[in-house]
Amino acid sequence: MEINKKPKIFIHSWIPEGLKSKLEKHFSIDQHDASEVVLSGDNLLKRVQNVDGIIAQAPIIDKNILHSCPNLKIVSNVAVGVDNIDIETCTEMGIQVTNTPRVLNDAVADMSMALLLAVARRVPEGDRMVRAGEFKGNPYPLLWGADLRDENLGIIGMGSIGQDVAKRALPFGLNIKYYNRNRVSKEIESNLNADLLSLKELFQTCRYIVILCPLTTETKHLIKSNELNLMRKDSFLINIARGPIVKESDLIEALENKTIAGCALDVYEFEPHYDARLSKMDNVVLAPHAGSASVRARTGMVELAAKNIESFFLRNEVLNPVNNIK
Ligand code: DGY
Repeated sequence: MEINKKPKIFIHSWIPEGLKSKLEKHFSIDQHDASEVVLSGDNLLKRVQNVDGIIAQAPIIDKNILHSCPNLKIVSNVAVGVDNIDIETCTEMGIQVTNTPRVLNDAVADMSMALLLAVARRVPEGDRMVRAGEFKGNPYPLLWGADLRDENLGIIGMGSIGQDVAKRALPFGLNIKYYNRNRVSKEIESNLNADLLSLKELFQTCRYIVILCPLTTETKHLIKSNELNLMRKDSFLINIARGPIVKESDLIEALENKTIAGCALDVYEFEPHYDARLSKMDNVVLAPHAGSASVRARTGMVELAAKNIESFFLRNEVLNPVNNIK
């Protein structure tokens, strides 16, 4: 009989060497550094079918995978969004799911403002022009962009990241409007000078709209032609949440028809694939799902995912539960 057998953990993530050695004291570790290739299907199944826990950076953990892992007790996601995991099945099977909230707030809020400024002030367009040797002087009408002061910023999803974006937007003179499932407290509204609007009002009145809500069955295709048609012709859409919240083909149609002025995307409906027409439009800024890609955030996310696994097995508690398995 094996006594004090170490729980088996599959780490599907980059992880600092020191942290891996620390985990090895308590766990039997198998690791795939998912920086280049995210495992799926049989390649993932082979690595997880006998494990007790998974540290998961980006793999799709669906019903099929879950039903093939009889020992699995916890999936510790290296992300705040958990749409890559079938939470309902995890809960039915008594599998704990955890995520990594807050450690990435600064990075994502900074990137939201970076994308907003980039599309408003046409930063990548100017960069392309200079690199192409087309900067031959400073003609007065060169690359005029959109102003921020006194414009409305509509935030869809006023969780802690939405609030951090609002804090950054206030000193730029933007007026904060928001849409959220639940109204935030009066204190938060008053600190951010934020008004709750209906989605329709938000689309109709905001010059800048930043999407920061989670992807769920309710928010999939929250923004399609109907909603884009409500938006102002001079407005910009910034999606830093999840691609499928916006129907990409409708967005492209709206950009082609000049229904809206432009967009900045960090995420795509069929990620990592995206419609090639997007990369040909000057009023579109594209980023490679890099919202949380800062040294502090990405390191902090892996550290927090590891802490959730450790607490679960060593202390029978977790720091960031997503589901309730009691
Ligand atoms: C998150 O935390 O959900 C990010 O999108 C991962 O990079």
